[in-house]
Amino acid sequence: MSPASQTARLSRSTRPAQGPSADFLVIGSGVAGLRAAIELSRHGRVIMLTKGHPLESSSIYAQGGVAVALSEEDDVAIHLTDTVKAGHGLCREEAVRVLVEEGPARIQELITWGARFDKVGGKFAFAREAAHSRSRILRARGDATGNEMVRVLMAEARRRKMIQHLGRHFTVDLVVADGRCRGALVLNEVTGARFILPAQAVILTTGGAGQVYARTTNPPNATGDGMAMAYRAGAVLEDMEFVQFHPTALYLPSSPPFLLSEAIRGEGGELRNIKGELFMHRYHPAGTLAPRDIVARAIWSEMAATRSRHVYLDVTHLDAAFIKRRFPTIYSTCLRYDIDMTEEWIPVSPSAHYMMGGVKTDMMGATSLPGLFAAGEVACSGVHGANRLASNSLLEGLVFGARAARAATADAARGAHASALLPSSRDLDAGPSAEVEDADKLRSSLRRVMWGKVGLVRTRDSLVGATGQLSRWERALNRPFTTRLALEVKNMVQVGRCMAEAALWRENSVGAHYRADFPDHRRPGWKVHSGMQQDDLPADPVHETKRPRVVSLRTGKAKPA
Ligand code: FAD
Ligand code: SIN
Repeated sequence: MSPASQTARLSRSTRPAQGPSADFLVIGSGVAGLRAAIELSRHGRVIMLTKGHPLESSSIYAQGGVAVALSEEDDVAIHLTDTVKAGHGLCREEAVRVLVEEGPARIQELITWGARFDKVGGKFAFAREAAHSRSRILRARGDATGNEMVRVLMAEARRRKMIQHLGRHFTVDLVVADGRCRGALVLNEVTGARFILPAQAVILTTGGAGQVYARTTNPPNATGDGMAMAYRAGAVLEDMEFVQFHPTALYLPSSPPFLLSEAIRGEGGELRNIKGELFMHRYHPAGTLAPRDIVARAIWSEMAATRSRHVYLDVTHLDAAFIKRRFPTIYSTCLRYDIDMTEEWIPVSPSAHYMMGGVKTDMMGATSLPGLFAAGEVACSGVHGANRLASNSLLEGLVFGARAARAATADAARGAHASALLPSSRDLDAGPSAEVEDADKLRSSLRRVMWGKVGLVRTRDSLVGATGQLSRWERALNRPFTTRLALEVKNMVQVGRCMAEAALWRENSVGAHYRADFPDHRRPGWKVHSGMQQDDLPADPVHETKRPRVVSLRTGKAKPA
């Protein structure tokens, strides 16, 4: 059985009904999905799907801002250099060039659509963040940049009659026929109805996978669905070992790891260990503004050395009125947890934050599967390399969301989809559906395994342990499910295993990937990307799950996982 015909499987009791139809399907409504949908609406009817609440996404929580070379002291060449440097030699320079060169136009366009970025003295206020050599971060309402960008994009999307936005619609799988992605299998979360949504082209903009870790800044819906469904459909995943851990998330037993923006350090915030000592100068000349991976690992080392679960972020030396004005959301959230950040140090520790890896795309968002495009955090175009430069991802969503849409319309115009032969529900039917026994417990166990064994510091032993456990769970979950929770747990296990396999494969330390057993950066042949594609599925998919092949994408030479 080929991966294509395996991709969407339904139970007899829940055969898909006929749903709405459109020319283009966008899965996700964060910055990337919204920007793609707006572009597509010039060329045909668009359906944009969101699981859960129609506004929920990582985009809406983005705090620090959006990096763009628009200030007088900056230019795109400097933005390019900073991005490539942060990526530790693994960025695709062509992709970075696209990002920094097209970024200013995408931001100007957002401003013409009504975005209000903060100004000082009538001029845009550009902030500094770690590893940026210039002040180039635009922000809105202090620390509510993502919220402002989503507000404007959503309003623009609503003005366009060709876009139909379906909230509370969970995409279960991609529908593949004759080697081409031709739509998606969708679950209406309210009615429980499942239907196939055919389209000439599909754009995945489903965001990241932070929820596979016990500690993450990501919202609950960041479960890696797009990566898992693309993988099941036969598309190539790339650089899955590169997970960015944000250094400063609130550490309180009673609170989720709420993000404390890097911009706080950009404004002079300091890091102290639990003895109250400043420590960053011992790890990097740039101190608290060193690249994110270095700050996160420095905190990890201090926590280990002081046998503590956190360090402190200290802004008590800064003007209190300025803090309240500059970081209103962060200030009020900390107060909710009885911390007045203007008077007390804030307990913080690292948390999973961003996936550099994802569905491999070219410069136009095309994946290895015809008819499927990807943009934003779900995609890996190569802009971030081994470590993303802070505040580059909102820009990436805008730039590559628009590009993927242009490529999808060109593809559709060529008539590549013309001989569409959708699988019938009978083709997709592969036995009775089931539910995951105690899905919440499995989800929690998975998150702990990933945090403990595939986290900030990895070793061969920890990764072998993780891949063994994840493979066993994956085999047990190799069945069709009908609830969102079960489907998400299955996706999280699959994505977690891909991350663990890739991390085991890469035997050096680079950027966000740190192997304590291979601490060297420049081992021979290190400058390659990992690629991962599902082998042909075994004849008995319930009892046998093949390991994905991890290959070096530069040499193409297979290496056993
Ligand atoms: P998202 O915004 O995550 O959107 C994903 C969408 O896909 C959602 O609508 C979701 O519902 C939908 N979806 C997912 N799975 C399914 C499914 N199965 N079916 C249907 N719909 C689905 N980056 C910056 O550049 N600057 C910042 O200041 C910044 N701050 C951040 C702060 C926080 C707390 C977090 C978590 C991230 C931050 N980032 C920041 C990173 C950045 O916000 C994200 O990388 C970016 O917004 C991702 O955008 P996206 O459109 O790719 O995905
Ligand atoms: C932050 O505000 O620290 C997050 C910025 C980012 O992840 O790009």
